[in-house]
Amino acid sequence: MKKQQFRVDRASTADIERMADLLGELFAIERDFAADGKRQTAGLRRLIERDRDAAAFVARDATGSIIGMVTVQLVVSTAEGAPSARIEDVVVDGDVRRRGIGRALVEAALDWARGTGATRAQLLMDTSNAAAEAFYARLGWEKTQLAARRISLRK
Ligand SMILES: CC(C)(COP(=O)(O)OP(=O)(O)OC[C@H]1O[C@@H](n2cnc3c(N)ncnc32)[C@H](O)[C@@H]1OP(=O)(O)O)[C@@H](O)C(=O)NCCC(=O)NCCS
Repeated sequence: MKKQQFRVDRASTADIERMADLLGELFAIERDFAADGKRQTAGLRRLIERDRDAAAFVARDATGSIIGMVTVQLVVSTAEGAPSARIEDVVVDGDVRRRGIGRALVEAALDWARGTGATRAQLLMDTSNAAAEAFYARLGWEKTQLAARRISLRK
């Protein structure tokens, strides 16, 4: 596949199975997460079925096969006095990396967020993910002084 032989569009429920596979690849490298197809499928369905405060985008090759994805969700930021977007689930098929697909996906998510009135976007990355670090730096994302914490609410 040559550079640019792909397109990015909004994901539909028909895309969930392949997207869940891609998330499996992502969670295999992110130490805070474990792949669980049922949960990823349920999460993707929730995201795709919402349309005002969340969106999922996929990159497709010339045959229509999904080769990358991103999700984006809004929260209200009191710091901004406006919505802030949270970018998650950025992954490109291992065979087609370094062809601009990741950049196009993140740009699609940010365009969507701007269109909702969001004035900031944030994301989390595994601290040992050197490729992601280089990728986001290249795209102009700034480091912050924040550190993530979490707690499980499962019974
Ligand atoms: C991170 C990832 C999404 C990048 O996707 P991609 O389609 O390869 O990225 P792009 O081709 O759009 O890269 C844009 C620029 O980012 C930088 N970049 C991307 N991957 C890089 C890498 N592995 N090492 C160094 N720089 C990199 C380069 O400057 C690149 O431009 P160039 O190829 O012209 O030099 C992809 O490597 C991936 O899916 N990794 C596994 C999942 C993951 O880690 N996701 C991020 C979770 S936070």
